[in-house]
Amino acid sequence: ESGTTFYEAVGGSETFVRLVRRFYQGVAEDPVLRPLYPEEDLGPAEERLRLFLIQYWGGPRTYSDQRGHPRLRMRHAPFRVGTRERDRWLEHMRAAMDEIALPAELDQQLWQYLVMAAHSMVNTFDEP
Ligand code: HEM
Repeated sequence: ESGTTFYEAVGGSETFVRLVRRFYQGVAEDPVLRPLYPEEDLGPAEERLRLFLIQYWGGPRTYSDQRGHPRLRMRHAPFRVGTRERDRWLEHMRAAMDEIALPAELDQQLWQYLVMAAHSMVNTFDEP
């Protein structure tokens, strides 16, 4: 194994910029997800998700420098994340991943993580 991180293997910061930008373009148009975001400007949320993913995959640790320990489940607690929200989140993420079109093995690795993470973020089970 070389010392190459996943972050480097997928093309570094630019890849995450494109992924998360495309993802939030989907969120901006989504009638279920958009109301969850407290700020009118989605730019800061986009930056936080981008910096988190960059750090998670071995890039610069700017996320924690700015935000501290991720504690993602705790940070999502104020928002209603049901299976419906999860599935829409994943739908926009899948569309964004299709657009960046990573090599199959890298795509699979990132996607597997995102599916797992999205499932673990669900905090509301009493939905119609
Ligand atoms: C923040 C929704 C899944 C990572 C947020 C916020 C909302 C939200 C409404 C607040 C926006 C803001 O940053 O001000 C959701 C929904 C999900 C989901 C509906 C559906 C399952 C995920 C997953 C990840 C993630 C799977 C990671 C892989 C983050 C990060 C933040 C965030 C890093 C910013 C945390 C902070 O530093 O404050 N999310 N999220 N989210 N989300 Fe999610």
